[in-house]
Amino acid sequence: MKKVLKFPNNFLWGAATSAYQIEGHNIWSDWEEFDPAGIACDHYSKFKEDFDWLERLNLNAYRLSIEWARIEKKEGVFDKEEIKHYREMLLNLKQRKIKVMLTLFHFTFPKWFAKKGRFEKKENLFYFRRFANKIFEEYKDLVDFWIIENEPLVYVGHSYFIGLWPPKKKSCFLAWRVLNNLVLLHKTIYQDFHKKDKSVKVGVAKNIQFTEPFSKKSVADRLSLWITDYLQNEYFLNKTKKFLDFIGLNYYFRCKIKFPFSVHYEGNLMSDIGWEIFPQGIYYVLKKLKKYRFPIYITENGVADQKDKLRKDFIKNHLYWIWKAINEGVKVKGYFHWSLIDNYEWLRDFKARFGLIEVELPSLQRKPRKSAFFYAEIAKNNYLIV
Ligand code: BGC
Repeated sequence: MKKVLKFPNNFLWGAATSAYQIEGHNIWSDWEEFDPAGIACDHYSKFKEDFDWLERLNLNAYRLSIEWARIEKKEGVFDKEEIKHYREMLLNLKQRKIKVMLTLFHFTFPKWFAKKGRFEKKENLFYFRRFANKIFEEYKDLVDFWIIENEPLVYVGHSYFIGLWPPKKKSCFLAWRVLNNLVLLHKTIYQDFHKKDKSVKVGVAKNIQFTEPFSKKSVADRLSLWITDYLQNEYFLNKTKKFLDFIGLNYYFRCKIKFPFSVHYEGNLMSDIGWEIFPQGIYYVLKKLKKYRFPIYITENGVADQKDKLRKDFIKNHLYWIWKAINEGVKVKGYFHWSLIDNYEWLRDFKARFGLIEVELPSLQRKPRKSAFFYAEIAKNNYLIV
């Protein structure tokens, strides 16, 4: 017998993207010098076509980010044309009655800010704060949810601990400093926005994986897991819990932690980039987040699957476990699939295809994947059939 699993009224059904990964031709960004996305999906000029897909897929919400490097190409000079461009984008979403979740920091910086040492120095927070407040003033009438930082721990880990992303440093000392600067930055901007508007909704997009020890018998692996969990999953939320209106959860996979801190993926079902697909994990993570008592939005969840063999079940199974968590009292209010369209993936070029909509290369033609229509049906009905 099939079961109909109903989602709460007013549930947000959305998709997510980030500016640098789709816009293209962002020559002002620090990533452009490091691993250029080039023309990416040319979303900058094709955004209306892409937003048409949101509507065709019955989505009522969209998470996007704004590119600081475009808005403030030169230190202290806000580019009027770019401000107009993003206003046009946000207005376009509003006209389609799509709720807007706007991210301010999604891994990239203007080149001039990178030269100053990014968030390594406390005094540099001033520049991002100035940008964030400017964006708030410009778009407060058009934004429903604000995300100040995307995955602060993923950023710190990749840029300062394993040293893969710019500025490619490997220093526990710096990682710790940047992490705490990100905590402070979040708190400060949260307060700035709330001073201007008490009803504003501000959160973080927090990446939390479902983690287990590599070997349950190994005390060393269990200790590494405990430290990783505390730093990766708990620390930021504990430090900012008085400065959040909601939690955004980015959930992708299960991984195993081996002493000292190596990450392993195992399992029967792997994505194109070797991440284990483990839908129950989102349920365990949500149950853990319940203690914070905030509304929760799944701000990212998706799978690299060029041939679209896994995505339909991926969506179905994750939504099943989300539904179960909701029924056990976790306040999940929305789901944003990563991603609306295929995009440039950090250090992987176009080799990780996360899109509901395929972006063909080099034509950049958009083609919906079958799984997109499966998701569209759920969004339209506000229920899932299992
Ligand atoms: C990031 C996205 C990225 C996705 C898939 C998340 O960590 O926020 O920018 O594309 O994962 O790797």
